[in-house]
Amino acid sequence: MLDIAFRGLVHGVYVVTTRVGERINGMTAAWVSQVSLHPLLIMVSIAPARYSHELIKESGVFAINVLTTEQVEVGKRFGYKSGRKVDKFVGLEYITAVTGSPILPQAYAYFDLKVTATFPAGDHTLFVGEVLDAKILQPEAQALVFKKADFF
Ligand SMILES: Cc1cc2nc3c(=O)[nH]c(=O)nc-3n(C[C@H](O)[C@H](O)[C@H](O)COP(=O)(O)O)c2cc1C
Repeated sequence: MLDIAFRGLVHGVYVVTTRVGERINGMTAAWVSQVSLHPLLIMVSIAPARYSHELIKESGVFAINVLTTEQVEVGKRFGYKSGRKVDKFVGLEYITAVTGSPILPQAYAYFDLKVTATFPAGDHTLFVGEVLDAKILQPEAQALVFKKADFF
């Protein structure tokens, strides 16, 4: 019953990226939301065990790549393995945002953010970021809506 109710909370699918010096990483996230208009703030909820959690704490910046309906495989690539063990960008084209975070050119759009606050939230941490830059990359594409069947 609870599981069915949670299906009513609709999420997109995103790849959240960051850079610390020469190290880049990205992870798939569904728990992403705009939380303020003035200033423009977006939050992403990340479990402390993720390598991305460690890196974003260190860098203070992250980018959100909005995946398209053609990018379920990209969501899997960034969502099942940790950057501690593999370089998830191997063989993948990317461009660099103002903050240094990698951007996937085939994404529908991206947001480039600097962390303005973090909050513990149960077994996750909410990273709130102010939008420094944003761009639509694939205006003809459709943003991907999370469906359990695509991923599990
Ligand atoms: C569709 C999908 C959505 C996910 N959403 C989140 C999320 O919102 N927050 C989170 O902490 N992990 C989420 N994950 C799990 C991380 O992407 C996964 O643990 C990843 O391997 C972490 O990579 P890292 O250790 O390189 O940071 C999601 C995974 C998938 C497949």
